[in-house]
Amino acid sequence: MLNIVIFGAPGSGKGTQSQKLVDKYHLTHISTGDILRTEIENQTKLGEHAAKFMNKGELVPDEVVIDILHELFVHEPDKVGYIFDGFPRTLEQGKALDNMLHGENEKINVVLSLEVDESELTERLIMRGQISGRNDDTEDTIKSRLQVYNRQTAPLKEYYAKQNKLANINGMGTIGEIFTRIEKVVDRLDY
Ligand code: AP5
Repeated sequence: MLNIVIFGAPGSGKGTQSQKLVDKYHLTHISTGDILRTEIENQTKLGEHAAKFMNKGELVPDEVVIDILHELFVHEPDKVGYIFDGFPRTLEQGKALDNMLHGENEKINVVLSLEVDESELTERLIMRGQISGRNDDTEDTIKSRLQVYNRQTAPLKEYYAKQNKLANINGMGTIGEIFTRIEKVVDRLDY
């Protein structure tokens, strides 16, 4: 299996590049953000609980997202692999993912970390907020999401660097240019 974590700050292009990876490598996409937004839309109990955190730009508690992941990950021989988008976001989640994969004799092959300047991140998210009206794409919430990323999520890079799995990708430029950088890394992997 080819298992990829796509990593980066809010607005760094994780969702956009995931779609291109799915198209080219036929991976199964797991986006915890998309799943949580669907729960909110469907007005489920889980969605109601998650919205309290998401609307403030805070992380949904680890046990909630780890449970979601356990439900979604299915180890089937015909699956090419997975792309984990927006998960893990804490060290606890990173360890849970490693344990889950280890239990299936699988592993993360690479962590693609999209590196984008903070001013560009803010600009992209404000622009999206004006068009799509995502609840958390407001100036105050964007600020708090970026702080949460720097404080709680960015330290995971060290965790993956120690495992020699971290690939820093320049996430500035056009979507196509960034994908070309990603392809170079993925095509070199032995899986
Ligand atoms: P999530 O949905 O994961 O959002 P996020 O990390 O804030 O990321 P975004 O979706 O905003 O950005 P992205 O990096 O995917 O970029 P995108 O491709 O969309 O999480 C939302 C919330 O859910 C969290 O805050 C948290 O509360 C909760 N949550 C989710 N997972 C969790 C977890 N594991 N644990 C705890 N809580 C969790 O692009 C952004 C915009 O930029 C788009 O408009 C796009 O068109 C544009 N764009 C993309 N690439 C380019 C480019 N190269 N040039 C110009 N524009 C571009």
